[in-house]
Formats: sequence, structure tokens, C-alpha cells
Amino acid sequence: LRRSPECHQEEADGHLRYRIIEKKLKGMGDNMKGLFITMEGPDGAGKTTVINQLIPLLQKHALVDIVSTREPGGSRIAEDIRKVILDVNNTEMDERTEAILYAAGRRQHLKDRILPNLEKGNIVFCDRFVDSSLVYQGVARGIGVEEVAQLNHFATDGLEPSTTLYLDVPAEVGLERIHKARGNRQFDRLDQEGLSFHTMVRNGYLELVKKYPERIVSIDATKSIEEVVEECFRVLVERYPKYFTK
Ligand code: TYD
Repeated sequence: LRRSPECHQEEADGHLRYRIIEKKLKGMGDNMKGLFITMEGPDGAGKTTVINQLIPLLQKHALVDIVSTREPGGSRIAEDIRKVILDVNNTEMDERTEAILYAAGRRQHLKDRILPNLEKGNIVFCDRFVDSSLVYQGVARGIGVEEVAQLNHFATDGLEPSTTLYLDVPAEVGLERIHKARGNRQFDRLDQEGLSFHTMVRNGYLELVKKYPERIVSIDATKSIEEVVEECFRVLVERYPKYFTK
């Protein structure tokens, strides 16, 4: 395969552009052109169902494009990394290996989809981001929040979402929902963990809510799907009137 000199030039320019964006994003917070929103929650909180209803609703009211994406995964290479992480056969995977793989997938996803869309001024809505690693790997797997935060700082260059919608459910409720839904949902390696793991995950999230009261909005996800969707929508429209019509 041969590439023209222009092609190399384009690549070099592209690379340079990303570096500039990364520098610009550092510390820019809400001044970045696009809007970066994430959703978090323990397994069984209903994230997928909520997102499936919330995104079309947001799209109806948004004044810019909305890109809906997810982690682990979200771009070609990141989806390959996802398969390795969630493979039910990989029971002997070391917890640090797992944390590094999540961070690696995140880095690639950021470069492939998140940054280019933020640069265009779009809204990027991501199902899970760094908070998932802080909670699942840092707290529940016992690596330590600080260690996982450092690893992720390297991966993301410190990029943080503007708002994180956190769907809160007690561990028992989450587990019960997973078991009920087992018939129509793929059962992955992490779903096999017991109640104590799910409880640690929830407590980890509650700590983050305390630590980042501005960024993370906690939503009671024991309520009906309609109510949860409505609440998420209301929070975003109120926080970002420039991006949405009411
Ligand atoms: P997924 O099938 O996407 O589940 P969900 O629909 O609940 O988001 O699998 C994601 C699993 O990976 C979930 O159990 C949480 C876990 N996870 C981590 O442990 N660390 C991370 O950084 C991320 C993004 C996810």
C-alpha cells in the first residue's frame, strides 16, 4: 500500500490538530466548544433503557448534533479492547491489567470520537467514562481510587465531562433487575459478581457524588423509566439552555 505525500501531510496535520485540542481542553472546562455529558450507574440501574429513550428526546430539542457513544468501546480499536475485557473466559485477568485496558480503550475512543466531535461543537453523550474505572477498578477491585485516577489522567489528559448523570439504585435492586432481564440481556463476566461487589460499586459512586457535587447529578433510578428520563432531560435543559430548546 502506497500513500501519497499529501496523505502523510494530512496525517501530520491531523496529529498536530489533536495535540492543540488536547492542550486547549486542559483546564478549559465549560468553555470547550462542544458539550461532554456522561451517564454512570451500577449494573442494573437501567442505563441502557434510559439512554434509548433519552437520546431521541434530547435530539428533538438539541440545537447541535448529539453523538451517543459508550465505554468500554465506542470506536473500532476500543471495541476490540472491550471484547478482551468482557470475555467470560478471561477469569484470570489481573485487576491492573483490566484497569490499563479500560484506560487504553478510553484513550483511543477519546481520540477517535469524543475529541473530534467536541471540536465540531457537538454534544457527546457517553455511556460510562472515567468514573466507572474509579468505582469498579479503584474501589470494587481494590486498586485504589488515587492510582486509577492517575492512570486515567494519563489516558484522558485530564478531560472531564461537563455533567455526569448518575443513576442511583441500591445493590439489591440492581441485582434483581439483572436477574429478571437475564433472558434478553447478555450475561457478562462482571455480572457474575455477587452482592458485595455491587454494594462496593454503589458506595464508590456515592463517594464520587460527594467529591464532585457540581459535576455529578444523582438521580433516583428506583423510579419509573419515564420519570428517570424526564429528570435527566430536565437537568440538561436547565444546565445548558444554549444547547437546547425547551
Ligand atoms: P456493559 O455491557 O457495557 O454494561 P452496562 O450496560 O451496565 O454499562 O459492560 C460494562 C461493564 O464494564 C460494567 O459492568 C462496568 C464495567 N466497567 C468497568 O469496570 N470499568 C470501566 O472503566 C468501564 C467503562 C466499565
